[in-house]
Amino acid sequence: MTLVLPPVIGHRGAAAIAPENTLAAIRAAAAGGVAMVEVDAKLTADGVAILLHDDDLDRTTDGSGPAAARTAEEFARLDAGSWFAPQFAGEPVPTLDAALALVVELGLAINIEIKPCPGRDVETAKIVLATARAAWPGGLAPPLVSSFSLECLEVAAQLAADWPRGYLIWDRPADWRAVADRLGAASLHVSPDRTSAADMAQYLADGRPVAAYTINDAAAAAALWQAGVAAVFSDDPASLLPR
Ligand code: G3P
Ligand code: MG
Repeated sequence: MTLVLPPVIGHRGAAAIAPENTLAAIRAAAAGGVAMVEVDAKLTADGVAILLHDDDLDRTTDGSGPAAARTAEEFARLDAGSWFAPQFAGEPVPTLDAALALVVELGLAINIEIKPCPGRDVETAKIVLATARAAWPGGLAPPLVSSFSLECLEVAAQLAADWPRGYLIWDRPADWRAVADRLGAASLHVSPDRTSAADMAQYLADGRPVAAYTINDAAAAAALWQAGVAAVFSDDPASLLPR
């Protein structure tokens, strides 16, 4: 079945409006009228799935050092909001569980990007998928599971074969089509900044919906939709919605 994506996906929730990958960012996306959010999921030292983009804590929390070294209890004490703006002081690093509960409550769709810390690809994919499977109501359209890690996507193909997989591409691998076929990818997630016009034409001609990251300019989004791109990930998603 062909995956249908909304034209705008909130990147890390709505990373320009509220601190990325927090519940506040998911709420901000919903308040702006966005239908779908993307978040980055990885593991604490003791194997709890949480939302965080970087391998280290320094940029987006008041902690420092490798995320993979901190337990869930330590994560619960971190502030992931003050770095962004004073009004978000005390905003926690959410568990994936808490984020999914909020997404369901708000009636959003979600793209869970599995973002393993180095060397933790398989265990991260397994736990993220098990957590999501347990939290996600069976009657709703399933999360779109994406990753730059082929190991993570292979685990997803085995453990959540019935959930759509997004193949995240940075620089075009020579064998991208064979990889996409092998993984049963439902969508291609590509960076226009790193993609030539010829390569973009090939992605678009492949038949899978193409989603472009990260687009924060209305003219750029319009040009991508015009070219056939199904969706754009944006830090200020509401600014790209039709008025
Ligand atoms: O999933 C789209 C986009 O989030 C991929 O890049 O580094 O922002 O997670 P990144
Ligand atoms: Mg991401």
